[in-house]
Amino acid sequence: MIRLRDIRSKAIGQLKEIGSDSPGLDVDLLLEQALDLSPLDIMLEPDRQVSEAKEQVFQDLLRRRLAREPISQILGQKDFWSLTFKVSRDCLTPRPDSETLIEAALKAIPDRTKPLKILDFGTGSGCLLLSLMSEFPHSTGVGVDLSPKALACAQENAERLGFLDRCDFILSDWAEKLPSSAGFDVILCNPPYIGQSEKPDLAPEVHDYEPHMALFAEEEGRREYKRLAEVLPNLVAEGACVFLEIGHKQGVEIVDVFSKGGAKNIRILKDLAGRDRCIALNY
Ligand SMILES: C[S@@+](CC[C@H](N)C(=O)[O-])C[C@H]1O[C@@H](n2cnc3c(N)ncnc32)[C@H](O)[C@@H]1O
Repeated sequence: MIRLRDIRSKAIGQLKEIGSDSPGLDVDLLLEQALDLSPLDIMLEPDRQVSEAKEQVFQDLLRRRLAREPISQILGQKDFWSLTFKVSRDCLTPRPDSETLIEAALKAIPDRTKPLKILDFGTGSGCLLLSLMSEFPHSTGVGVDLSPKALACAQENAERLGFLDRCDFILSDWAEKLPSSAGFDVILCNPPYIGQSEKPDLAPEVHDYEPHMALFAEEEGRREYKRLAEVLPNLVAEGACVFLEIGHKQGVEIVDVFSKGGAKNIRILKDLAGRDRCIALNY
């Protein structure tokens, strides 16, 4: 048997050595998972004795974290908006910054009873689509992705969270497989937008564990916005709202791309850290 506090302090030290941003939180989350404890148990019972077998389960998880695997993938889930999504190496882990798109959509469309038709381009885990659908109980949704594995994640999340009867998932290169007269009321999209030159700056947790198709785009991160600007006008219903995530330094350039593509009323919206994160537009 070994004391919880000893396991904890040693593991925190090991994670500090590899440069984890949040070693205490990481260790607590792994302890909760491995030992089936609550955060309160860990805080109030530091002298709890842990069996060798349980400690081994924890050490196996810690080894993965020390190899820089993200906590979300080790735990297999991530909270986003008010929902919990299953995540894996096959889809991007939802980021809190992306909640900016959901907030913007809710502000733009205050009537929650509307039977909105929602399109989510590059759905990944399905986090944007399913979160917005959870706020509009009469909405229907379509999630599109070019990655069959990501699409399977989105579908599984839709099923687990009880949305499958209201949404479809389509394997497509953006609009290629969509009917051109689809008429969506809301289009959400968080496309890949990291340029190749930024690759060396990425943490191993991102670069080595998340799908590159979800991260990188040609033309220094601008290429997919240009392609989207060409197809979006054919997909919108009258009065539709479009919300796209952007890199925090891309605002002015991406506004220009969509403005040349015929979009109107383009606004740049900020995330909670005060950085440009989303552009909202209409046609
Ligand atoms: C940045 S991730 C966004 C995932 C999810 N929507 C989120 O916000 O967490 C981009 C997604 O777009 C998908 N994707 C990349 N290129 C695509 C394309 N040409 N057509 C459709 N989906 C694409 C990727 O597979 C990935 O799932």
